[in-house]
Amino acid sequence: MKVTIIGLGYVGITTAAGLSEIGHDVVGYDIDSSKVKTLKKGTSPIFEPGLDELLKNNIQRKRLDFTTSAEEAIHHGDIIFICTGTPSREDGSADLTQVEGAAKTVAKYINGYKLIVEKSTVPVKTAQWIERTMKLYLKKKVDFEVASNPEFLKEGDAIRDFLKPDRIVIGVGSKRAERLLRELYKPIKAPIVVTDINTAEIIKHASNAFLAMKISFINMISDLCEATGADVELVAKAMGMDKRIGKQFLRAGIGYGGSCFPKDVKALYYVGKQYGLNFELLKNVHEINESRIDVLMEHLKNALWNLKDKNIVIWGLSFKPNTDDIREAPSLKVVKRILDEGGKLTLYDPVAMDNMKKVYPENHPYIVYARDMYDAVKDKEALVILTEWDVFKQADLQKVKELMLTPIIVDGRNIYKPRKVRRMGFEYYPMGRP
Ligand code: UGA
Repeated sequence: MKVTIIGLGYVGITTAAGLSEIGHDVVGYDIDSSKVKTLKKGTSPIFEPGLDELLKNNIQRKRLDFTTSAEEAIHHGDIIFICTGTPSREDGSADLTQVEGAAKTVAKYINGYKLIVEKSTVPVKTAQWIERTMKLYLKKKVDFEVASNPEFLKEGDAIRDFLKPDRIVIGVGSKRAERLLRELYKPIKAPIVVTDINTAEIIKHASNAFLAMKISFINMISDLCEATGADVELVAKAMGMDKRIGKQFLRAGIGYGGSCFPKDVKALYYVGKQYGLNFELLKNVHEINESRIDVLMEHLKNALWNLKDKNIVIWGLSFKPNTDDIREAPSLKVVKRILDEGGKLTLYDPVAMDNMKKVYPENHPYIVYARDMYDAVKDKEALVILTEWDVFKQADLQKVKELMLTPIIVDGRNIYKPRKVRRMGFEYYPMGRP
């Protein structure tokens, strides 16, 4: 099938690569010409394991191409996916101007029946706005429909999530739209849930907000464990053995970041407010998440007393492992808080340092970017762990201890066994563990 993708961010690129991989003829469109140029060479502008290979293979097979020509892009696809960004506004609501822009572009160049599918995470009723915008800006009489097909891709695991999803949700207003989307996803073995459009939009927001709630819940329990000398890791393990609860997304620590959970929790809270509903639960989810930084800073101060002029090293800047994404990453807040208290920082991350350098340049007077993880810890007074990269889990801690000035680890992700690291001579401060 002929497919067009509008908006080449995480969702757009992965969807373009995934749909071409399962045999479709895909064109990706973006106004950013340097991004399109990079993608045309089969190189992804974002770090995502396996993505470059998929891009190169499918470009070579002539099933995937990228363009900055809106006309070419809109004419190409019978199905047009809107994958533009939906960032947060000041008040927490979703800024849908890019989605509106995409709808106007489709209206301008549409040349026959198109199924316009929103894939970006959007508030309920966005499809209705897309339809209205299309009708307002259409210059000729052309048949089109709008549908919703939310994405459930996790950064770092996006290709697997695309090709082997738990479920595919399609929100449609007609049998024709359902037929088209079923055919599109035929090569993928996964249950398909067909709903009306509003329901599909809510499924996405509710799924992300629920996962964020699970994380904040276990973080709330983590605080209780800390106050009482209990161990949140064991609480989470035993809770997760109950199949009704499930073991995933119960990892306590420094909290959730990224481009999705923080934004979607706020946006869904705002939607609730719009309809006069009490969604305070989501406000609490957000507040508990924000308070993780206070807990970590308290640990650091318990360890170092004053932070002024202390040499502190951070391992892990990305909001989670296997990505270079630092959007809404806890590291951004922790770096700022340590600098505000007069600390001196050395930062290390396997792939996210270039992105961090865009926020804190290399010539920053109180920040050094380390060449490798061991070089980073040399002569430091505390090691703060903010991302659970495998390389940190497997670190040679004996070597780390010898290199550090004072062997203190403040672990925001609970990656080590407390008894083991303490036996090695470290002072160890995990989250919610005795
Ligand atoms: C999330 C969802 O998991 C995807 O299903 C969804 O499609 C995506 O948002 C989106 O809306 O685009 P993502 O943000 O890539 O995916 O990352 P997650 O793996 O969900 O992790 C989010 C954050 O929660 C990370 O900062 C992670 O460290 C944190 N987390 C996760 C915890 O603190 N504890 C956990 O137990 C799990």
